[in-house]
Amino acid sequence: MELALRYTQGRPFERLRAADPRRSAYKVMVAIHHERPEDAHAIRFVLEEAFRQSNEADLVDALRRRGALTLSLVALRDNEVVGHIVFSPVTIESADSSFNAIGLGPMAVLPPYQRKGIGSQLVRIGLEQCRQAGHAIVVVLGPPDFYGRFGFVPTRHRGIQCEFDVPDDVFMVMELRQGALAGRGGVVKYQPEFKSV
Ligand SMILES: CC(C)(COP(=O)(O)OP(=O)(O)OC[C@H]1O[C@@H](n2cnc3c(N)ncnc32)[C@H](O)[C@@H]1OP(=O)(O)O)[C@@H](O)C(=O)NCCC(=O)NCCS
Repeated sequence: MELALRYTQGRPFERLRAADPRRSAYKVMVAIHHERPEDAHAIRFVLEEAFRQSNEADLVDALRRRGALTLSLVALRDNEVVGHIVFSPVTIESADSSFNAIGLGPMAVLPPYQRKGIGSQLVRIGLEQCRQAGHAIVVVLGPPDFYGRFGFVPTRHRGIQCEFDVPDDVFMVMELRQGALAGRGGVVKYQPEFKSV
């Protein structure tokens, strides 16, 4: 049986059956790896092409330089980086409490490879790795129609605000451990590098 997805560093992380042949024109097979030092340039390229500006690439470089990336995964197609996702620490602060969570993003897929399932694989594996590492809450800023399918909900229902002035529906949260948000809320503070995006 062919594998549609592999996880590196020796251990299979998630195994999927080969894509349904009826959808093979849509799905693209990729290998998901932890970012390696030699991937940094290709990651920049993917971010710049997908966002059509260099702010997000500069942000990822700055976070990496300071060791502030919790998790950074690449999607490889024939050993070429075609997708990328990062997670970094955030705090959720209110007048009487402050607790840790994790922020997803930025993430990007090289334009010719978009809408082929690669972004979804990066999100699903990234979230699963965060869960296994013990993280309980993830926030994300991005298209609700994309992130909503993984279980993210608008933060306005959960007593959480973004430190940046963003439309209500694009700031979302997800519990990786059920009940992790119960009775808690506040303003999400990202790593300082996010202020320059
Ligand atoms: C957003 C992005 C990462 C999604 O990656 P992708 O590989 O294209 O996503 P997938 O193919 O896994 O898409 C899964 C589903 O979400 C939908 N989708 C993808 N991008 C979407 C978007 N921006 N808005 C709404 N829906 C989207 C797809 O149509 C697909 O739907 P289907 O299963 O019904 O066909 C990619 O389009 C991208 O790099 N965009 C530019 C950068 C960006 O906006 N990043 C996100 C903010 S940090």
